Amino acid sequence: MLKQSPTICIFFFLHQQTIHWFTCTCNYINKQATLTNMKFLAASLLAFPLVFTVWFIFRHPITTDRAEFAQARVFPSANIQSVSGDISSQEIGMTQHKLLGGLLAPGFDEKSCLSRYHSVSYRKMSRYMPSSHLLSKLRSYEDLHRQCGPHTKSYNETLKQIKAGNTVASSTECNYIVWISFSGLGNRMLTLASAFLYALLTNRVLLVDRGKDMADLFCEPFPDMSWLLPLDFPITNQFESFNQNSPSCYGKMLKNNIITKESKPSFLYLHLVHDYQDHDKMFFCDQDQTFLKRVPWLIMKTNNYFVPSLFLILSFEKELSKLFPEKETVFHHLGRYLFHPTNQVWGLIIRYYQAYLAKADERIGIQVRVFDTGKGPFPYVMDQIVACALNSKLLPKLSMKESGITPLRNQRSKAILVTSLDSGYYENLSNMYWEHPTVTGEVISFFQPSHEEYQQTEKKNHNRKAWAEMFLLSLTDVLVTSSWSTFGYVAQGLAGSKAWILYKPENRSAPNPPCRIAMSMEPCFHAPPFYDCKAKKGIDTGLVVPHVRHCEDMSWGLKLVGADNHLQQ
Ligand SMILES: *[C@@H]1O[C@H](CO)[C@@H](O)[C@H](O)[C@H]1NC(C)=O
Ligand SMILES: *[C@@H]1O[C@H](CO)[C@@H](O)[C@H](O)[C@H]1NC(C)=O
Ligand SMILES: *[C@@H]1O[C@H](CO)[C@@H](O)[C@H](O)[C@H]1NC(C)=O
Repeated sequence: MLKQSPTICIFFFLHQQTIHWFTCTCNYINKQATLTNMKFLAASLLAFPLVFTVWFIFRHPITTDRAEFAQARVFPSANIQSVSGDISSQEIGMTQHKLLGGLLAPGFDEKSCLSRYHSVSYRKMSRYMPSSHLLSKLRSYEDLHRQCGPHTKSYNETLKQIKAGNTVASSTECNYIVWISFSGLGNRMLTLASAFLYALLTNRVLLVDRGKDMADLFCEPFPDMSWLLPLDFPITNQFESFNQNSPSCYGKMLKNNIITKESKPSFLYLHLVHDYQDHDKMFFCDQDQTFLKRVPWLIMKTNNYFVPSLFLILSFEKELSKLFPEKETVFHHLGRYLFHPTNQVWGLIIRYYQAYLAKADERIGIQVRVFDTGKGPFPYVMDQIVACALNSKLLPKLSMKESGITPLRNQRSKAILVTSLDSGYYENLSNMYWEHPTVTGEVISFFQPSHEEYQQTEKKNHNRKAWAEMFLLSLTDVLVTSSWSTFGYVAQGLAGSKAWILYKPENRSAPNPPCRIAMSMEPCFHAPPFYDCKAKKGIDTGLVVPHVRHCEDMSWGLKLVGADNHLQQ
């Protein structure tokens, strides 16, 4: 029997952390293969993911680009099968890989949020490992969230404080930071990650105002306990009207000298929106953080990635350097920990990916966001995109010979994913590469999932597609993004790669040079404070520490950079 069986040989060829695998059928499988043969074949195929898992665990901490690339290629088929239920996840094993190096907690129900454990099959493996301190912090945060989450005994107790009025009688077991859903989707993801980091640093529990569509877009990130603020939270109806003049606004209270050493408000509103005033910015001072510790409910509204300024608060410094020894990985790790597309959004992502991107040899994402007024596409933006793509060799040059038909050599294919509110850039690029052959003979195809003409902040389907597009961009091998684009920041952060940033066009002309590679993959804080809390005077906060610098796409913004970029201009 055995002699007649088809022999399935799986060779693993490990060489400098690069895995090559070949499946070879040494004998042709006869059409009338016996049942035994088929069983043997099935068993061999099932064994492959197991062997792979073992291999992976052994090599885990050391990764290189080439290994990542091989992984990205190998895993999809295995996990797509598990989506359809052919091979259950137990058989594949809860590998470190699937849990993003321990970032994600195991044990979530997979079906209710397929993206959580399956996104790893579509994205290149990260070259950045989360620190063990971050991992233990996340696990202890999850415990805290379980203990203090919505409608727990502690939550109910703390909530009584708000209902009872203005003064906290005794210190509470649990303290909270409530994040108000505010602004466009890209901004919301950046602010939510910022609020979560603040929660980690201050041992607060993060609760999320669901706004119009938060629950529709994101899975629950914490095990066993929701992160959504309960609908019966007493002051939700005030969220929309909260601003820097609200009586419960911390900055306003400071300004009016209402805050004293004895004050113990049960809740405070923190106004960290771009239009905030000097008193609101005191949030970023040590002594104010000391005061805020005794307030059980902090309610925050912001449209900015304020993480870089947390790195300038002395009392957070030590903990932050333990959590993030690699400074530029904050959003990369926290974003992948927090943001899992719901099944509806995941469907949009994988269907698009499989239809248009999966088969290409290389995927490039181009995110175009234009802030100039008037109707696009703008010729100077078009010129800038083309110049950037050609200079950085992301796209091959075109051959302008009349009869240009390049011989069928080097049939590499590149899929270019264009995202923009406008379809003009996509149409122009695809026309260029339709009308002329490439000098390299590469096959270039362009895709644009949607073009909504203008940004609609709180519409359900619009945001599902926007989230799907951000995620798709994060699955590409190389990214080109517009300056100031929060959409682009999210994509590069999740991808864990530095994007080519298109400089912001000034005076309606294409900038020269058109683009540069980002100093770090971190988002830019667009409205940072410029204040020295100790000296009580204005300073340039981009010059205080080497890892917080001005952004390449906004001269007054701040961003975190890794050690390799401390000396660069
Ligand atoms: C907390 O209060 C809610 C109602 O507001 C109640 O349903 C729930 O059982 C309470 N939780 C505990 C642990 O008592
Ligand atoms: C693309 O845009 C440029 C600049 O606006 C224009 O000159 C060119 O004719 C366009 N090409 C195509 C094929 O649409
Ligand atoms: C902007 O363009 C106008 C008209 O072309 C020119 O006069 C002006 O000097 C330009 N400004 C800058 C800052 O380049």
